Amino acid sequence: MDYKIRTKIAQILLEDKIALGTEVTILGLVRSSRVSKDVAFVDINDGSCMGNLQAVFGNPDSLPILKSVTTGCSVRVKGKLIESQGKEQKYEIEAASIDIIGEADSTYPLQKKRHTMEYLREIAHLRPRSNTFGAVTRMRSKLAYAVHKFYQDQGFYYIHTPLITTSDCEGAGDMFRVSTLDFENIPKKDGTIDWDSDFFGSEAYLTVSGQLEGEIMATALGDIYTFGPTFRSENSNTARHASEFWMIEPEMAWAELPDNMDLAESFIKYLIKFAFDECADDMKFFGQWIDKELIGSLESVMSSDFERLSYTDAIKLLEDSKKKFDFPVKWGIDMQTEHERFLTEEVMKKPVIVYDYPEAIKPFYMYVNDDEKTVRGMDVLVPRVGEIIGGSQREHRLDVLNERIKKKGMDNMETYYGYLELRKYGTCPHAGFGLGFERLIMYITGMANIRDVISFPRVPRWAKF
Ligand code: 4AD
Repeated sequence: MDYKIRTKIAQILLEDKIALGTEVTILGLVRSSRVSKDVAFVDINDGSCMGNLQAVFGNPDSLPILKSVTTGCSVRVKGKLIESQGKEQKYEIEAASIDIIGEADSTYPLQKKRHTMEYLREIAHLRPRSNTFGAVTRMRSKLAYAVHKFYQDQGFYYIHTPLITTSDCEGAGDMFRVSTLDFENIPKKDGTIDWDSDFFGSEAYLTVSGQLEGEIMATALGDIYTFGPTFRSENSNTARHASEFWMIEPEMAWAELPDNMDLAESFIKYLIKFAFDECADDMKFFGQWIDKELIGSLESVMSSDFERLSYTDAIKLLEDSKKKFDFPVKWGIDMQTEHERFLTEEVMKKPVIVYDYPEAIKPFYMYVNDDEKTVRGMDVLVPRVGEIIGGSQREHRLDVLNERIKKKGMDNMETYYGYLELRKYGTCPHAGFGLGFERLIMYITGMANIRDVISFPRVPRWAKF
C-alpha cells in the first residue's frame, strides 16, 4: 500500500489547494460517524489542521464496513472533493470507499464530548488527538519556527549550549544532579562524597539556563540566541512552573538595559503577530473555546507600548494601592505572582517591564547601578501569566563582578574562571534575557496551566509518558 498517495486535510481546508472534482485519498482518525438508511457521514481529522473533513456515503447499504467505523479508528477514505451541501463546512468528500486501518472499540478514552484538562493529562499519549492539544501542538511548532525567524532575520546566530553543566547560573540551587555514582555504595573521601570519582570528575547538573555560555558566545560573535530545554528542581507546584521547560535566550554584545527592553518588546509583539498571521484557524479556536477575551487583549498588545516601570516605582504603586496581598509589600521583597499580576492586569492593563531590582535579590551577574543598591535586571510581566521574561544587562567590569561574587559568598570559583576571563580580555557591555517558551504559549493560547502547553510535562511527582 502506498501511503504517500494522500491529500492532507490542511491542503483542502486551509490552503485551498485542491480543485473541486479532484479524486482524493484521506488518511486520518475518525472523530465521529453517523450511519442512517440513506446516507452516512464520517468526520475525519488527520492532525494537519483544526478542521475535520466530512466524508459522505450516498448508499451505505453497499458498504457494510461503515457499521464498524467508530470514533477513534484510523481509516482511508477515497472519493471526490465536492462543495458541501451543509452550512458548516465549505468542502466534503463524496466518498466511494472506506478502509479501516486500525480499529478503536468503545473503550477509546477520547469519545466525542468535552473532557476536563485533568482527565486529558492522565491520557497524555492520546490527548494530542483532541482539538485543544492539536491546536496547542501546532502553535508550539509554528512559534518555534517564528523564534528562529525573528533572530535569524536580524543576524543573531543560533548557539547550542550544554545541557550538562557544573555551574549554577541563577545561584538558586534548584538543580537536578547528574551522576553515575552507585547509590548503594557511594564513594567517600575524608568523610564526604568523593565527587572526583564521579563521571565528570566533579559535581554536575542539568542546566537551569544557557546564559553563561551564551555570554561567552555573544562576546565573540556579537548577537546570539539559544533555544533549548532547561531544568529546575524547585518544588513549585503551580500552574506556571515546570521542572523541564524550553527557554529562548538572546544575548547581545554592545548592548545595555534599554536595548534589552526594546528587543524583548519587539520579540513578543512579533510572536503574537506571527500567531495571528500564520495560525489564524487555531487562534480562532482558542478565542472561542479557551478564553473569550484572548483575541482582543492580544490585539491591543501589538498596537501599544509596554509600560516600563522601575522596581522602586512598582513597589510604591503596590503600597499605594492599599490592596491586601498574601505576601506583604515593602522595598526589597522578591515580587510574588500576586504582585506581578496586579501590576500588569489591574494597574497597567498591559505588559509591564519592571527594571532596576534590589541587588540582594538578583543573581551575581547583573550590572550594579551607581546607587550600589540596585542592579540592571528586568522582568517582563504580562496579564494572565505574570513573569514571562527575565533578563539583565550583565556586569562586564571585572573588579565589580569579583566584589559581587565575594559578597554572594560563592565558593566554587574555579567553575567560573572562563566567565571572569571574558571581563579580563576585551570586555564589553552586553545584555540578554530568557523567555520561557511554555509561558509564551500560555500567553498566546490562553491556556491556564503549563501542564497543558507542553506535550509531556515534567512537574514535581509527575514524569509519566
Ligand atoms: O528569570 P529566569 O530565571 O532567568 C534566567 O534564567 C536568565 N539566566 C535568563 C537570561 O538572562 N538569559 O528565567 C527566565 C524565564 C522566566 O521569565 C520564565 O518565563 C521562564 O524562564 N521560567 C520558567 N518557565 C517554566 N517553569 C519554570 N520553573 C520556570 N522558571 C523560569
